[in-house]
Amino acid sequence: MRRIISPSMLSADFGHLDRDSRMVDASAAEWIHIDVMDGVFVPNISFGFPVLRAIRRASEKLLDVHLMIVEPEKYIERFARDGAGIITVHYEAVGDLGACLDLMRAAGVRTGVSLRPATPVSVLEPWLPRLDMVLVMSVEPGFGGQSFIPGSLDKIHELRAMIDTRGLDTLIEVDGGISSTNARTLFDAGANVLVAGAAVFGAPDPTAEIEKILKA
Ligand code: DX5
Ligand code: ZN
Repeated sequence: MRRIISPSMLSADFGHLDRDSRMVDASAAEWIHIDVMDGVFVPNISFGFPVLRAIRRASEKLLDVHLMIVEPEKYIERFARDGAGIITVHYEAVGDLGACLDLMRAAGVRTGVSLRPATPVSVLEPWLPRLDMVLVMSVEPGFGGQSFIPGSLDKIHELRAMIDTRGLDTLIEVDGGISSTNARTLFDAGANVLVAGAAVFGAPDPTAEIEKILKA
């Protein structure tokens, strides 16, 4: 099964954003995770377009943009233009999911939908054929450095079964509280893409930590 690490720039040192982006660019991570928060959908505000463009300039890797914002459909085109390769919107934040997915396709980005810990995976059943990725939140969205919610594991298993029974190739991404200690369990449960913020940027050697999570 395909394994991808997507380090979350939310935990990077913004005083050295270029350095940290280049570190990820040169590492074994295939993607770079970009957390956009609006202070409405989640009780925190992170960053937007100028930061995304700065990371784009520093790296060739796929930019995996996780939108924790209300009315994400208003901004799909701009995030695509500024460098996103895949855009993930929250199921709970979007009004017309079908229209939003159409906008992503038209903008030439891959499609992702995320679920908060309390949202069951069954809500995505009708949408799976149109999704390149499902993002299972394993913490309440809003902040880095939280502990992994154990119940998320059942959601990964359930989603893996839904995807495989339908013969689809939708990727499963997991985000929140991931480190080299639980990565193996998550990959074994059927996850393809693991996001890691605090574990990577809090490590003495972030490059080595990325490899450790990838090979867990
Ligand atoms: C939280 C964000 C995550 C966060 C993960 O709302 O979506 O991407 O950066 O951080 P860690 O890996 O520190 O839990
Ligand atoms: Zn995220």
